Amino acid sequence: MVLYMNMNRFVIAANWKMHFGVQEAKDWCNVFLSQYRPTRGRAVMVFPPYILLPIVMEALHGSGIWVGGQNMYHAPKGAFTGEVSGAMLWNLGCGAVIIGHSERRKHFHEDDALLAMKRKAAMDIGLQTIFCVGEEWDQREAGTHHEFVRAQLLAGLADIQSNDLDRLIIAYEPVWAIGTGKTATQQDIVDMHGFIRATLRTIHSDAGIDDVPILYGGSVNEENAAEILSVKDVNGVLVGGASLDPLKFLTIVNSIPMTVLGN
Ligand code: PGA
Repeated sequence: MVLYMNMNRFVIAANWKMHFGVQEAKDWCNVFLSQYRPTRGRAVMVFPPYILLPIVMEALHGSGIWVGGQNMYHAPKGAFTGEVSGAMLWNLGCGAVIIGHSERRKHFHEDDALLAMKRKAAMDIGLQTIFCVGEEWDQREAGTHHEFVRAQLLAGLADIQSNDLDRLIIAYEPVWAIGTGKTATQQDIVDMHGFIRATLRTIHSDAGIDDVPILYGGSVNEENAAEILSVKDVNGVLVGGASLDPLKFLTIVNSIPMTVLGN
């Protein structure tokens, strides 16, 4: 799985958040698979709620689509009522996890220190780890968004090792663009993705840092995906609302031009 990931320059991820029951999840997978064709250079990931993971994994089995957790706890096991560990995700057969989504930071008060522990635990287990960063509107208005995102990256990735890099994916999700219908402008995205790439280089000197995909998230849909995916330094998208419709998500998956994928 990890080797396959290295060959993918683009990652298209569906974050279902807290949506769907068993039948809706099965239906989503059936509709998606009826038209999905795997392609070199592009990894597709689906992040359902925990309880739907076995169902989605079974439904997508053999498709090459990665299935992962929207969150995890850093301790492998223990008296942590209500939590699910990275070890449990791995044991189930999940290949990926999202760490530090802004909704976890905001509604569940997950701070930089906790997220650094989660990020490390996820990678130590072997999970492809989407580490999310992004500023609030106030910070953008005040012009402190670069500083804020740099601090999130430094805190979350401080002790990252060379051999972790093939399991790291960054998602830039400006909080003000999530679920709001507002997307950052092309210029905002070029600027911040370039800034994140430059910051990553200061965190790690290994050449592999340049292969770490940087995804954009925040009101990506089937209409704006092609434009966003054509922006420099955008190596994929993390999609919330629009991923709940399997055919809209498929349109987003198919928005990367085949020529860019080298097929
Ligand atoms: P959205 O969510 O596409 O609904 O804005 C993105 C995300 O939170 O991952």
